[in-house]
Amino acid sequence: MNRKKDDAKQHRRPLFDVLKQHEKKEKVSFHVPGHKNGMNWDPSLTSFHSMLSFDQTEVSGLDYLHEPVGVLKESQDLLGELYSSKKSYYLVNGSTVGNLAMIMGSTNKGDQVFVDRSCHQSVIHALELAELHPVFLTPELNELDATPLGISLPRLEEAFKLYPSVKALIVTYPTYDGMVYPLKELIDYARKRKCLVLVDEAHGPHFTLGAPFPASALDLGADVVVQSAHKMLPSLTQTAYLHLGNHVSFSIESQIEHYLHILQSSSPSYPLMLSLEYARYFLAFFNEKDLETTLDYRDRWKKQFENAGLEILQSDDPLKVRVSWAKHSGEVLATQLEEQGIFSEKTEEDTVLLTFPLLKQEAEVSEPFSLQLLQQAESDGVDRGRKRLSMAPHMELDLSYNNQKKRRVKRTRLEEAQGKIAAQNITPYPPGIPLVLKGERLTSEQIRQVEYCLSQSMRVVGLENKRELFIFSEND
Ligand SMILES: Cc1ncc(COP(=O)(O)O)c(C=O)c1O
Repeated sequence: MNRKKDDAKQHRRPLFDVLKQHEKKEKVSFHVPGHKNGMNWDPSLTSFHSMLSFDQTEVSGLDYLHEPVGVLKESQDLLGELYSSKKSYYLVNGSTVGNLAMIMGSTNKGDQVFVDRSCHQSVIHALELAELHPVFLTPELNELDATPLGISLPRLEEAFKLYPSVKALIVTYPTYDGMVYPLKELIDYARKRKCLVLVDEAHGPHFTLGAPFPASALDLGADVVVQSAHKMLPSLTQTAYLHLGNHVSFSIESQIEHYLHILQSSSPSYPLMLSLEYARYFLAFFNEKDLETTLDYRDRWKKQFENAGLEILQSDDPLKVRVSWAKHSGEVLATQLEEQGIFSEKTEEDTVLLTFPLLKQEAEVSEPFSLQLLQQAESDGVDRGRKRLSMAPHMELDLSYNNQKKRRVKRTRLEEAQGKIAAQNITPYPPGIPLVLKGERLTSEQIRQVEYCLSQSMRVVGLENKRELFIFSEND
């Protein structure tokens, strides 16, 4: 590990200190929130109850996230120092709001942008809100299981020849499965063309720790980076960070702040922000011994999975491991694991993704136990259809966001949708990557993919009554 900071200042937890002081000071609450430090809560919910005195509002001594001048400023500055950013922000609505603010704040209406097609839906939503003209770049796919592996440099070079005035490149790094790709090459190439690089690093807030973790997007020179702290660090669900690279202009900085203000609550949750501060503190003092504990815990579980006859696929991110069971679908494997109390992150056709925690050496962890997998009589017949998906290297929407607003929307049945323009994203979960984009003309291949997801009982968002979808009418 080549951790950059071991600064005594990083011991500071200003938000925690002020909330503790406030807890001691406040005898009576005549302010929001309505639970008044838990006064009207069921006392039997003890673990939740003990947190309620930290659920505060902007009373004196506390600070305002949208214009921080006190503890929140200090707390966020410590985050910026740890990540060596120009400036870093706490987000209370996940990478979702981070992606919206990053994209809306870094572009202008009508700009052409390159977007990794396998991006998260929040990126797609940002493109629409910002009224951009996206050119979607198809990522490389893992030969083994067709999971996305990021945009290659040749694909970007080829796309720049066709679209030389693109203003920003928006990528996901690492992939959901914890795979990385040569992002530095893309950044260097884009920079030469005065194109911003905006990175959804939702799954990589821990990369700042250095090797054996892959390089972080900020260290590789990205302009703006968004991270879901809650995914891989010990912070609460919905928490995230946004970081500005050191060369980002003041106008982008102020536009991003403007959108964060517009898009986030005017009553940001203090428990969420406190957990963001804790996650920064946790990272700042994560040392070699902690790393050993972390990898040892992972390896002991890997051994148990191997002993049970599973195949192990280690991702580039040491904390992400996929397991597969010969002749069985990911769904069947996940169900068998759940019966033994093991809940995984997501299932694919024939793999199950596990995310491991960062652990301090003093963490009390239970011993991995051995697994009992009940062989099914036969293969459960996984349909390999998704692996045959072939997509154009780049595509533009068939109907721009602006023109979409002028069209009527109607319903059609899935089997009648070929050649029609989708009026809604169709997104299977997990991993939440849109299979069909709003504004895209549906192909028979895409319809087959949607059918496949339904046949696998995957949750598919964007379909009405499971088999109907919204399309734009062609003639108004
Ligand atoms: C790649 C990616 N980006 C962004 C998000 C949104 O993150 P959040 O849940 O923090 O809003 C996710 C969520 O799964 C994701 O996988």
